[in-house]
Amino acid sequence: MTTQRFLTGITTSGTPHLGNYVGSIRPAVRASLTPGVQSFYFLADYHALIKIDQPDRIQRSTLEIAASWLAAGLDPERVVFYRQSDVPEIPELTWFLTCVLGKGVLNRAHAYKAAVDKNTANGTDPDADVSAGLFMYPVLMGADILIFNAHKVPVGRDQVQHIEMARDMAHSFNHRYGDHFVAPEAVIEDNVATLPGLDGRKMSKSYDNTIPMFASSAQLKKLIGSIVTDSKMPGEPKQTEGSALFQMYQAFASEAETQALRQAYADGISWADAKQTVFERIDQELAPMRETYSTLMNNPAKIEAILLSGATKARALATPFMSQLRHAVGLRKLDAMSTVTSTVSKAAKPSFKQYRETDGKFYFKLLNGQHQLLLQSHGFDSPKDAGQMIKHMSAASQDALVLLSTFWQLAPDIGIADVWQNLQLFNSD
Ligand code: TRP
Repeated sequence: MTTQRFLTGITTSGTPHLGNYVGSIRPAVRASLTPGVQSFYFLADYHALIKIDQPDRIQRSTLEIAASWLAAGLDPERVVFYRQSDVPEIPELTWFLTCVLGKGVLNRAHAYKAAVDKNTANGTDPDADVSAGLFMYPVLMGADILIFNAHKVPVGRDQVQHIEMARDMAHSFNHRYGDHFVAPEAVIEDNVATLPGLDGRKMSKSYDNTIPMFASSAQLKKLIGSIVTDSKMPGEPKQTEGSALFQMYQAFASEAETQALRQAYADGISWADAKQTVFERIDQELAPMRETYSTLMNNPAKIEAILLSGATKARALATPFMSQLRHAVGLRKLDAMSTVTSTVSKAAKPSFKQYRETDGKFYFKLLNGQHQLLLQSHGFDSPKDAGQMIKHMSAASQDALVLLSTFWQLAPDIGIADVWQNLQLFNSD
């Protein structure tokens, strides 16, 4: 069995918070230690450009996210850890996929549709403030995944549609050009905790209720102190159900520790003491990482070097794969053109294309079923002359066309009409 490849991207549009740590960083770092899997983690900085037009913020976020993942224990020797924009094969593949994906599929993408619905509700142009980048987002994401033929993509529920689109792109491409891509599968992380934020809703940047992953110990204490609770007095029994503080503790503590706090709630622990307990437990897990984090943040050159070496590993796979794909679609070196005979015989239906050049003359080309050039005519003075020639050739046998095409390849300077005439003589012998 081939090694299972897991791949995940992290958009470089913010500072990691505890919700990111519990929901994605910690499980991903643990998963990367599983034997028999190959993991790819990358900083999706091209994706960040869709949302953010502040260059310094993009750079800062790239540094912070890279430092956070490394501080959380991601081992760049063991996984492929890279920055999307260091792998030019990704935008190149994006274009290939753009050409095989139906536009209608993108029209139905949730993020794009939500923007359109909002505009429609406001009575503005449906595409107001929608960049083509937002529209194309799923294609870039498809390229991220397909360039490494990842089997599994751990994502949140909101990203599942994007993985389905990536499968669609893989199938469409394979259908046209042969089997090149594995159809990726989403792995939905349902059993990881979603962390509540300071106000009790899910911790999320868009709710402005986050605790930065690497807040200082003092800041962490202060922020945990500000988590909403009810107004029960010390000594009064407290509910664990619906307590954001309790849920937060649970995401860090062992079974036994959680049970102990549950008991303390029942016994009427004061909110101040409960907050102290939660703070100490979280700080215990984060303190060692915080140190690594600040060392890394003070040494951006080291992170840069780690990312570049990750990109080298990534490109060792992506570059040859992209050459294969370029060849598959027909972006090929002309000096390695396959012999005409074999291409003609493979061609189901050769076709003629007529056109006029800037010299004012009329030309045509003969293409095989794979759109490869079999021959190109000399210039005719009128479209009627060119048409006449096409008519003769259309009536000819496949064998005659092979011969003609071979002649043309050998001596492209001789006019087609002359070759044709000689061929007729040859045939009537
Ligand atoms: N769209 C993902 C998010 O916002 C980030 C991402 C970009 C990604 N490319 C990817 C995730 C490829 C998985 C695979 O969370």
